[in-house]
Amino acid sequence: MLHPRVAGARWLCAKVSPVNVGILGGTGPLGRGLALRLAATGTSVVLGSRDPERAAVMAAEVVAAWPGETLAIDGAGNAAAAAADVVVMATPWEAAVPTMRDIAEHVAGKVVICVANALVREGSDMLALIPPRGSVAASVAAAAPGALVAAAGHHLPAAVLGDLDRRLVADVLVCSDHPEATATTMALVARIPGLRPLDAGGLASAAAIEAFTAVLVGLNIRYKAHSTLGLAGLDGNSRVPLRTEVPEL
Ligand SMILES: NC(=O)c1ccc[n+]([C@@H]2O[C@H](COP(=O)([O-])OP(=O)(O)OC[C@H]3O[C@@H](n4cnc5c(N)ncnc54)[C@H](OP(=O)(O)O)[C@@H]3O)[C@@H](O)[C@H]2O)c1
Repeated sequence: MLHPRVAGARWLCAKVSPVNVGILGGTGPLGRGLALRLAATGTSVVLGSRDPERAAVMAAEVVAAWPGETLAIDGAGNAAAAAADVVVMATPWEAAVPTMRDIAEHVAGKVVICVANALVREGSDMLALIPPRGSVAASVAAAAPGALVAAAGHHLPAAVLGDLDRRLVADVLVCSDHPEATATTMALVARIPGLRPLDAGGLASAAAIEAFTAVLVGLNIRYKAHSTLGLAGLDGNSRVPLRTEVPEL
């Protein structure tokens, strides 16, 4: 039986069912928050780290913080996390390519979801950097040519992901040059209540998607908020995936 939090995602889960997820750099706020939200749907998650002991401690802390939930979250080295069915790249952007090169052999033929944004803060401004291949995701794809790389999740605030008591409602843009990666990533996103995955086309879209994060983070700094993305004009369109129902808090 599906976990109650995932009941609304039944239609997408039936299409693609990745059973476990490994998060490279999973000990950071984004990795821990994403692990929590996925694990709360019954998905097994491994937090990857350069230090397996640190990852084990972090994983235990996340589980201990939510005693009312049944959470399958473990910690391991990045290479062990890359043994999962689906792998998420969640290191800082400048570490993404070296991290991927180190574990590339483990992700051949697998879906890798890159959430990294290349940003730099200058005073009160948050600025987007343009990586050599146009996006972090494209650089990660070049570092692991056997992987099916998608980009997604750039606009999800870690602080909200990491707190099940906070309402999470967002559109999640997914792009990839591999239809299997798009479908798998959208199915995974749809498991999380409140998220609506949207097919944003090929991996070339990652450049604009990553760069727009600078605008969102700038808004968050100015308004002391945790804004995310919500697109108008798509509700009621039968071609658009349904948003997974948001549980009462
Ligand atoms: N924070 C957000 O709200 C948010 C939202 C959407 C997307 N993102 C993106 O998600 C990624 C992770 O964000 P975050 O805030 O969780 O980042 P973070 O805390 O700065 O880094 C995540 C983890 O990456 C590992 N790491 C740090 N430097 C590294 C290096 N030089 N080489 C290899 N691994 C390294 C660390 O784990 P170990 O020390 O345990 O190895 C760290 O805990 C970023 O690319 C960010 O742009 C963040």
